[in-house]
Amino acid sequence: MSSYRQSLGAHAERLESTHLRQLIGDSDRAGRLRHRVGPLLLDLTRQKLDVQALDALGSLIESSDWQKARDAMFGGEPINTSEDRAVLHTALRASGSRLSPVAPSDVRKEIDQTLERIAHLVEAVEKGTTEDIGLPSTVTDIVNVGIGGSDLGPRLAVEALDQFHTGRVRCHFLPNVDGHAANKLMRELDPRRTLVLLVSKSFSTQETLLNGHVLRDWIRHAYDGDDRAAARHFVAVSANVEAAEKFGIPAAHVLPMWDFVGGRYSVWSAVGLSLALTIGMDNFRAFLAGAAHMDDHFRSEPWQANAPVLLALTELWNRNVLGYSSRAVVPYLDPMANLPSYLQQLEMESLGKRVTPDGKPLDNETVPVVWGSVGTNAQHAYFQALHQGTSVVPVEFIGVVRPAHPLRANHDALLANLLAQAAALALGKTTEEALEESDGDAVLAAQRTFPGDRSSTVIMLDALTPESLGALIALQEHKVFLLGHLWGINAFDQWGVELGKVIAKRILPALDEESEKLGDFDDSTKALIEAIQARREG
Ligand code: F6P
Repeated sequence: MSSYRQSLGAHAERLESTHLRQLIGDSDRAGRLRHRVGPLLLDLTRQKLDVQALDALGSLIESSDWQKARDAMFGGEPINTSEDRAVLHTALRASGSRLSPVAPSDVRKEIDQTLERIAHLVEAVEKGTTEDIGLPSTVTDIVNVGIGGSDLGPRLAVEALDQFHTGRVRCHFLPNVDGHAANKLMRELDPRRTLVLLVSKSFSTQETLLNGHVLRDWIRHAYDGDDRAAARHFVAVSANVEAAEKFGIPAAHVLPMWDFVGGRYSVWSAVGLSLALTIGMDNFRAFLAGAAHMDDHFRSEPWQANAPVLLALTELWNRNVLGYSSRAVVPYLDPMANLPSYLQQLEMESLGKRVTPDGKPLDNETVPVVWGSVGTNAQHAYFQALHQGTSVVPVEFIGVVRPAHPLRANHDALLANLLAQAAALALGKTTEEALEESDGDAVLAAQRTFPGDRSSTVIMLDALTPESLGALIALQEHKVFLLGHLWGINAFDQWGVELGKVIAKRILPALDEESEKLGDFDDSTKALIEAIQARREG
């Protein structure tokens, strides 16, 4: 049994006989579980917690020295121990903080200089003076080539902040090595007016480099094989300047990344260049400021009023005490369709670990599976299972009060659905109610009964703006940090992605090998390689 189940299980047992229908009516409890942070309202009142259970969770976090751990992160201590690195994504947005800076001054200086370089580039694109800085004279389209953290954050923000696009450039994303995507882009875009942002912290990611080469060949071809002309179409963002230069991008066109920023925490850095180019520098700074305000909140509020702490404690409760193994993220907002994928990487790459930093097995389950998609579409796909299936899946609903369009009736319908789903999951429909509407037919009533008592969280933004999106992402980042702290794991490395990369490197040349030379591979892999080879020329 997990150690948290052992220490908190009595609360869960006590609550077993108390339906959410009853809990929701307790106004003291509601006051403890509903909090506003600037443009963001966090409503945890539909979580299966009462005040006593919440206080028990509070004691747990208080005894964990969480403030010390938090301050160590903000202060730049090397808390990513397996790589001996600091974790300073919060320093990237500290310019928007109202508290005194705590990150090392040399780090802050480099960050400021990089922000200036980003601003310079954005200005050149906006004013049409790109040629003066060694880029093509006309830029109508930018392509962000990068994957994982070098794609998901900027893509989420660029799409979510659609209404803030300046219209100066169109922004495209090319993460996957699947040639369909690159091919499509090359069919649609004008190579002479395209600026490629090659974004890779390591500058060794197979997908990114391969797509980079494909786009470079395409651009070079448009200039009759002129390498120098093609090189003007590339800007890199990387911690590995040398490798970027080797690729053919001059150092002046390489914006830095640092080892103290993990890929999945990097949208605030030059990795967000595509975002800055698309929404303009003022909006990009507002995005940083929104996150910084959440940082300030996290750094200054006691656990009882601290949104990231409450969100983390709720997740721990659901995962370790109630034993739920997944969480659905359902944004009721088409522009936020990428939020589930973004959170998948943030949470599952950070917290998908099974040993402590000392290599000892953990005594609690870690990250649940994070999945989801936009509402209301999701209601017509998998909500049946969420309401009446045998497994309970807590849901995180995300909505906005004021949409970025004038279609009030649409938005009201959207909001009504969000609220209705959260209510239906919590309240359910009793057998008596089902019997009544089934004219006493017990068999039908059994099928029309909803158990309810199913947990959900609602996060409501006043509007989808750079500030509120920044705050929402920072909230989730700090939740992840706290869960890493409470579970005793390093949330900032990702060794689990390495093995597959190494095997893929070995398989790649073997796809063209003769059968007898495939001896090294396991039988299943070998058989599949042979099956692919046999059908290749079809
Ligand atoms: O494969 C996982 C990963 O290392 C992520 O952590 C990272 O965000 C992504 O690959 C891309 O890495 P890079 O920015 O170095 O190309």
